[in-house]
Amino acid sequence: SYTITWTSDCCLLFVFSSSLLCERIPLMKMSAMQKTLKGKNLMNSFLEEHTYSLSQNSADDQKFSTHPLRKLKDVFYFGNISIGTPPKQFRVLFDTGSSDLWVSSVYCHDPGCGEHRLFNPHESTTFEITDRHMYFCNELGKITGFFGRDIVQIGDLVVMNQTFGLSQRQISRILALVPFEGVLGLGYPSLATPKIIPVFDNLMLQKVISEPVFAFYLNTKKEDGSVVMLGGVDHSYYKGELNWVPVSESRYWQITVDRISMNGKVVGCSSRCQAILDTGTAFVFTPGLLTQQGFAGLTSPFLSQYLISCRVNTTIPPVVFTINGTDYPMRPEDYIVTVRGQPRGRFSNPGLTWILGDAFLRQYFSVFDRGNRRFGLAPAV
Ligand SMILES: *[C@@H]1O[C@H](CO)[C@@H](O)[C@H](O)[C@H]1NC(C)=O
Ligand SMILES: *[C@@H]1O[C@H](CO)[C@@H](O)[C@H](O)[C@H]1NC(C)=O
Ligand SMILES: *[C@@H]1O[C@H](CO)[C@@H](O)[C@H](O)[C@H]1NC(C)=O
Ligand SMILES: *[C@@H]1O[C@H](CO)[C@@H](O)[C@H](O)[C@H]1NC(C)=O
Repeated sequence: SYTITWTSDCCLLFVFSSSLLCERIPLMKMSAMQKTLKGKNLMNSFLEEHTYSLSQNSADDQKFSTHPLRKLKDVFYFGNISIGTPPKQFRVLFDTGSSDLWVSSVYCHDPGCGEHRLFNPHESTTFEITDRHMYFCNELGKITGFFGRDIVQIGDLVVMNQTFGLSQRQISRILALVPFEGVLGLGYPSLATPKIIPVFDNLMLQKVISEPVFAFYLNTKKEDGSVVMLGGVDHSYYKGELNWVPVSESRYWQITVDRISMNGKVVGCSSRCQAILDTGTAFVFTPGLLTQQGFAGLTSPFLSQYLISCRVNTTIPPVVFTINGTDYPMRPEDYIVTVRGQPRGRFSNPGLTWILGDAFLRQYFSVFDRGNRRFGLAPAV
């Protein structure tokens, strides 16, 4: 779990709290989830018919949506969706590190719920209740409630009969501070609450989108300008070629990284390692301590963050992630955040896998190809 502090100059302090509300490590989420997907055969045949070739540009396709996202402090990327009849708008985090959809509901009276938009099932003529309980314990906090079903709209894309969570309790210091009231998970179904079909799977099953692919362009500078593309790829958002790597484990968007180096010296992941691509995580998380020799001026981790003296600022080389033979550098300005005047590395501790969050993904256009079970990266425009 994090504690989060907004300082007067809008810098962010992310610290791992030792008094954990729940185990933070996302792999906990993973092991707890069963691999069940209703309509699995249906899904497989859909995917076989629709393996994505990327030959065409999807920009003019009707079963495709480029959906705007807003950035909050380089940490959260969220966008609008609507639920119910008549449609009511909610702001949700588009999160590749989870697979459920949930929003705050009128049954929640915790701090933060009141200031947000709340789903009221009595105001939707298409809402159906289920007997399923909702329970999440993750980086946002501990969220409990129940599941219902309704029509969900993302831009022009309409999903019928989508199961989603309605929160009743939100034990979270973060959710009270942010201008969104839910999460839309884009992970694999095995990461979702058992037997609940995630939004993207319903987009595929209900043939709302033409290709089983989504992609992120996360703007580095402006609050707006970021997008999530659902159902295809608009090639105008990246330069050069997309490089692909197979998804090694289809729960999270997990891939194999060859090595991580600085100045040609390996600083982590010396004999290949696993990494999760997570748009719902701000930084890059390392599974253990980094080897120090690459980081000139790097001190030992303090409160699970690395401290870097301001003076070494200009001399720090990029951290290079090598993925399927291609180098993906992260420049110092992308991995160092200044907190109350003191720069800190954006590499935080523990976990079992690397987690490549927004600090990494922001520099690249990223394609999540469910049809071909692969992940693609290209330099963003
Ligand atoms: C969400 O919709 C509101 C209008 O209801 C709009 O002002 C806002 O910019 C939208 N947010 C994003 C991220 O597009
Ligand atoms: C809606 O989805 C649920 C499970 O996700 C399923 O049991 C039910 O048959 C569906 N209803 C319709 C009308 O498709
Ligand atoms: C990995 O890279 C090689 C070339 O370097 C390429 O032939 C292969 O297709 C890539 N893997 C995937 C899954 O695309
Ligand atoms: C690095 O130094 C430059 C000027 O030399 C400054 O603008 C920038 O904010 C510094 N970066 C960090 C992370 O301190």
